[in-house]
Amino acid sequence: MIGGRRFSKLIDEVRITEAVNGLARQLSEDLTDEEDVLFLGVLNGAFLFAADLFRQITVSARISFVKLASYEGTESTGRVKELIGWSENVEGKSVVVVEDIVDSGRTLEMVVGSLALRRAASVKVVTLLFKPESFRGMSRPDYAAFVIPPGFVAGYGLDYNGYGRNLPEIYTLIE
Ligand code: IMP
Ligand code: MG
Repeated sequence: MIGGRRFSKLIDEVRITEAVNGLARQLSEDLTDEEDVLFLGVLNGAFLFAADLFRQITVSARISFVKLASYEGTESTGRVKELIGWSENVEGKSVVVVEDIVDSGRTLEMVVGSLALRRAASVKVVTLLFKPESFRGMSRPDYAAFVIPPGFVAGYGLDYNGYGRNLPEIYTLIE
C-alpha cells in the first residue's frame, strides 16, 4: 500500500542499480570532452536518482537542483508550472537535466526552454523513466533508464500523494 492505494512491483532494486550504473558509465564517456558540466536535478522526484547517478560520474562536474511549483490555472490554461530555485548561472555550461519521469513532456519542455533562454551551451536530458505513449513533446529525452507503459508509478523518489519516495523499488498503481 502507498498512500492508501494498492500498487504492484514494476522494477526491482537490482535492475534500478544496474541501469543507473550503466547510465553513469555512458554519461561519463559522453561528457569526457565537455568543459563545464552542470548536472541539474528536478526536485522533488529526481533526488534519489540524481544522487545515485552523480555519485558514479567520473568526469569533473557540478550539481544543482531546481524545483517546479505547479498549481491549477484559473482559466483554460490548465495546470501551470513555474520554475523556482534558479540560483545557478548556466550560461556557457553543458547542462545535464536529471528527471525522475518524462510523461507528457510538458515539464521537460519548460526546463529545456528556460535553459536555452539562459544560454546554456548544450542541454542533455537523462530520465529514470520514460512513458512514450503519453509523450506529446518535441524532443525525447537523450537517455532513459527505463521505458514504461502509461500507468501511474511510485517509489525510488517518485510519490503518490507524497508517499512512496523512500521505497527502493518502483511500483505501479493497480486500478
Ligand atoms: P510531465 O510534465 O507530464 O512530463 O510530467 C512530469 C512530472 O510529473 C514528473 O517529473 C513527475 O514529477 C510527475 N509525474 C508524471 N507521471 C508520474 C507518475 O507516474 N508517478 C509520479 N509522478 C509522476
Ligand atoms: Mg519530476
